[in-house]
Formats: sequence, C-alpha cells, structure tokens
Amino acid sequence: MQLTKILQSQGFGVRRACRELVKAEQVMVNGVLVEDPELECDTQSLTLTLDGEDWLYREKVYLVLNKPTGFECSRQAQHHPSVFSLLPTPLTVRGVQPVGRLDQDSGGLLLLSDDGGFIHRYTSPKKEIGKRYRVHCKHPVSDEQIAALLAGVQLRDEPAPLAARGCTRVGDNVIDLDIAEGKYHQVKRMLAAAGNRVEALQRTRIGGFELPPDLAPGQWRYLEAEDLERLAEAA
Ligand code: URA
Repeated sequence: MQLTKILQSQGFGVRRACRELVKAEQVMVNGVLVEDPELECDTQSLTLTLDGEDWLYREKVYLVLNKPTGFECSRQAQHHPSVFSLLPTPLTVRGVQPVGRLDQDSGGLLLLSDDGGFIHRYTSPKKEIGKRYRVHCKHPVSDEQIAALLAGVQLRDEPAPLAARGCTRVGDNVIDLDIAEGKYHQVKRMLAAAGNRVEALQRTRIGGFELPPDLAPGQWRYLEAEDLERLAEAA
C-alpha cells in the first residue's frame, strides 16, 4: 500500500496532510527516514515513527479504556470532558467509537474500536453479551433485593421484567451484578426497582474479559489477540 494511504488509514490526517508529512521528512518506516509519499510498503509488521513515537500498523484497532467517572462517552460531549480526550489524536481521527457506552458518572471497562462489525457484535441486543458491574448502593443490599434482581424487576417502558444473570454480595452495600442486556441506565433502574439506589457504578467485565487491574482510571491500551478471545468467551 502507498505510504500516504497508510498514514491516512492510521489517522494521521487527510491525504494531502499525510503527503506533506512525508515530504517534510517527519515519517520513518521501520526505522528508516523516507521522503517519497508514494513509496509502496508492506503493511505486515510495519512500524511508522512520527514525532519520535512508534505506531504499529493496525488494519483495525480495538482498545480498552479504564473510563474515569466525570467523562462523557460522546464525541461532542456537552457538560463534561469526552473520553476521546484521553486517547491519542490519530485514534480519534481514524474513527474509534465506544462499544456500549457508560454514563458520565459510571467508570470502568470501556471498549472502543473502528471495526463496525465488532461494534455491532458487542452491542447488538440479540447477542446478549454478559457484562459485570461493581455496584455501590446507598442502602445495605438485602437478601430480598438480591432475590428480586435475580427473579426480574419490571422497569418502566420495558415490555417484560429484566433479570440479572448473577448477583453476588461483596459488602453490605456492594454487589457484583451480571446482566445480559445494555438498556439505558439499566443497572441504576434495576436497583431502583428493587428498592435501593446506585451511588457508584463500575463495569468490570464484558464477555470473559476483565478490566485489566494494572490499567488506572484514564489509561488505555490496545486489545491483543488473547484479549479478543477472552472477550468472545461467554460470561
Ligand atoms: N447501567 C447504568 O445504569 N449505567 C451505566 O453506565 C451502565 C449500566
């Protein structure tokens, strides 16, 4: 593939800007400075270096971000900073999207990708991908409330009760809740319907993939092949 095209595909700007970057000797290919924007490159194991930073060529990108609370998942965030402000510019330019949003005041495991098929697979209601949330509640969580969450609670505007796949008490006021759907404010609404109230919410798992413990709030990393395999495991 032509170098200019490669740079464009990786989020370094429009075609013309990418051409200019090469002509201005700002781009190294596999450690070698190049000047020809039309240079044909093999994208297999290709590393670009710009501004002293290495970028492995990736046809599609899959990211995990530990979303901090106080950030919105939309690109045009209204009242709070956007999660996109936590990512390097080329990743936002190449069009990564959140794979299932989290509320502004929720945190934890957020996936992002520019692979439309992947986004669809993990957000389609039909697929029922398991998600786990660590839920801090206002009131101690009673056995009755856990039983109600597992049996199913009726939410307004939903045709049928929604049941948690699992619910484990972690502390007096803290539970791990497993759900299969991704309805608007689902966890908060389920806890309210069970007679409690969510004070803090963190997503800790999607499919078989856990939020990496070494990823601090605000940090992100690429998902590698083994992460994607884990993600695909039924939770
Ligand atoms: N359920 C909620 O209520 N909020 C989230 O951010 C995620 C699930």
